[in-house]
Amino acid sequence: MTTDTTTKDAPVAPVGETVLDARGVTMRFGGLTAVRDVNLHVNAGEIVGLIGPNGAGKTTFFNCLTGLYIPTEGEVRYKGTVLPPKSFKVTAAGIARTFQNIRLFGNMTVLENVLVGRHTRTKEGFWSAVLRLPSFHRAEAASRERAMELLEFIGLEKKADHLARNLPYGEQRKLEIARALASEPGLLLLDEPTAGMNPQETRATEELVFAIRDKGIAVLVIEHDMRFIFNLCDRVAVLVQGEKLVEGDSATVQGDERVVAAYLGEPFENAPGDEETAEVEAAEANAESAATPTDAAPAKENDR
Ligand SMILES: Nc1ncnc2c1ncn2[C@@H]1O[C@H](COP(=O)(O)OP(=O)(O)OP(=O)(O)O)[C@@H](O)[C@H]1O
Ligand SMILES: [Mg+2]
Repeated sequence: MTTDTTTKDAPVAPVGETVLDARGVTMRFGGLTAVRDVNLHVNAGEIVGLIGPNGAGKTTFFNCLTGLYIPTEGEVRYKGTVLPPKSFKVTAAGIARTFQNIRLFGNMTVLENVLVGRHTRTKEGFWSAVLRLPSFHRAEAASRERAMELLEFIGLEKKADHLARNLPYGEQRKLEIARALASEPGLLLLDEPTAGMNPQETRATEELVFAIRDKGIAVLVIEHDMRFIFNLCDRVAVLVQGEKLVEGDSATVQGDERVVAAYLGEPFENAPGDEETAEVEAAEANAESAATPTDAAPAKENDR
C-alpha cells in the first residue's frame, strides 16, 4: 500500500515565509454568516492562536481552510498557491489538522492510526500491493519506521499495539496530533487540543506544540484555555460573531478593551468576598454532580 515519497528531513519553509494566507474568507449558511471577511496569515516558524466565544466561527474557519467547506467568498493560499477545495488535496498540499471532537479509528491500534495519516505521503501501485512486491515491503517498512518515530515524539511508543479506544482521553488527543503529523505538513491546525485535559496534560501539550514548531511546522491553534494561548502564541487573532475583532501579540490582545468586553471578561478587582466564594463553591458542586461521565466533548454539527 505504501511507498515513502518524503524524507524525514524534508526542507522546511524559511522563517518568515507566508505559509497560510486567507483573504476575505466568508462562510454563509442560509441567512447565517458564520465567518465574515476574515483575513489571516501564518508565517513559517510561527504559532498563531485563534480565540473567541462559543459559536464565533472558529471551527467553521478551519473547515474553510481545509477544504471541508468551500467559502462563500474569499481565497485561501498555502505557500502562495490557492488551495483546492477538497480536504485530501489540502492535506497533500501540506496542511494537516486535528478535530474538536476526537476522530480516531477506535478499533485500530495506535500505530495503525498513525499509518492511516501517512496515506497522502505514499504511493504504491495496486499490483505492487496485491502481489506483495519487494518495493511494497520496503515502502511499508519505511512508513512503519516513520510512524514509530512520531509515536516516540509524542511519548506513546510503548502503546503502539494498544487499541486507540483504550487510551485515556489526553493520549487520544496526542495520538490525533501524531496522525496529523504523519502527513508531513508544513502547517498544523489544532482545534481545541487541550479540551478535556487536566492541567498537567495541558502543560505537556504546550511543550509538544513548541517542539512541533521547532521542527519547522507552523501552527494555528484554536483554544479556550487562555493561559495556554498566551504562553504559546506569537500572535493571536480574536473572532467574535464571525468577524476578526483584533489581532496582535498576547499583551495587545489581553489589553484590548473590546476583547475583554466580548470574550475575556473583566478581571476581579478584589478577591471575592466570603459570600461570593460560597456561591462559587456551591455552583461548582452542582455542576460536578450534574456532569455526565462522558469521554469526549459533545459533537458539534460542523466538526467534520
Ligand atoms: N454546517 C453548518 N450549518 C449551519 N450552521 C452552521 C454550520 N456549521 C456551523 N454553523 C454555525 O456557525 C456558527 C459558528 O460555529 P462554529 O462551530 O464555527 O463556532 P466555534 O467558534 O468553533 O465555537 P466553539 O468554541 O463552541 O467550538 C454557529 O452559529 C454554528 O451554529
Ligand atoms: Mg469550534
